[in-house]
Amino acid sequence: MSKEAVINFYEAIFNSEELKQEIKAITRPEELIKLGARNSYYFTIEDITQANTSSTRKNSKPLFPTNSSDADVSNNFTQFYHYEFEFSEIPGFEEIAQEFEKLKIKPSTVHLNLYEQNFREEDCKFTYVSPASPAFKQMYEELQNSYLDLDVPGPQPEYAWRPFHLINLDVYVEHPLYEDYFRTKVRLLKLLEDFFATEFRFSGSLWYPPNSYRLWHTNETQPGWRMYLVDFDYFEPKDEGEAFFRYMNPSTKELVTLEEKPKVVRFFKIENEPSKLFWHCIANTTKSNRWSFGFQVSNKWMEKLLQSS
Ligand SMILES: [Fe+2]
Repeated sequence: MSKEAVINFYEAIFNSEELKQEIKAITRPEELIKLGARNSYYFTIEDITQANTSSTRKNSKPLFPTNSSDADVSNNFTQFYHYEFEFSEIPGFEEIAQEFEKLKIKPSTVHLNLYEQNFREEDCKFTYVSPASPAFKQMYEELQNSYLDLDVPGPQPEYAWRPFHLINLDVYVEHPLYEDYFRTKVRLLKLLEDFFATEFRFSGSLWYPPNSYRLWHTNETQPGWRMYLVDFDYFEPKDEGEAFFRYMNPSTKELVTLEEKPKVVRFFKIENEPSKLFWHCIANTTKSNRWSFGFQVSNKWMEKLLQSS
């Protein structure tokens, strides 16, 4: 019996339609313990409490509420399609945060004027159209197949593709900062692998200048957990514009909007089964620059952040 079993059971629920249905039918911790045991996950109410209140989760929602007097257990479950932690909440994350800081570059070889000229308000607004809405499919397919004519010679910048109005830093390898940037990426990977005791792989190194967006997508060809380190150059919550990560809850089809704040690590799970696709999009219409560095990671990250150290 252990809180590890609680975490493992929690993870198993993500992967089983049957368990997702069953969890919706229970209202009490006693039932949860019983359901766990039926599936060979053995834990006590104390284990649930420990898993919920481990030191790195102080400000997070519990995995499984234990003090419910009503049906909240079942209703709360559907909220857990993402996890977020501020860097400062994670003990021992300081060195990772320092290396990450050095990755927030603006390569001199990016043609910012050209980039800015190709902002399209109507495309940005597509982040407000739900993938579950009748109008979505046609607009989505049109955008997927649409490239802007940037009137430049040679290979077109990545942002000529309409759904991708941002800068992919890893495309720019011919500027003076690149070598240092690359070494920092390698160091950061090592620090992350040591910290989480599992393998990491970069999945995307993205600079979102003011007025940028990544329109709806699922990443379904690469299923598994993603971790994103997100930050800004400066951040004024009261500034005009908005910065958010938005996803559609695959079960309820509700849109969930996570308003961005500086120095956050975010986790979500990419699925490839049609009924579980994790539709998501990002927009930054503030005057700040946003950076996000994504990684593929195994579910072992949970052992580090969801259990007490
Ligand atoms: Fe994505």
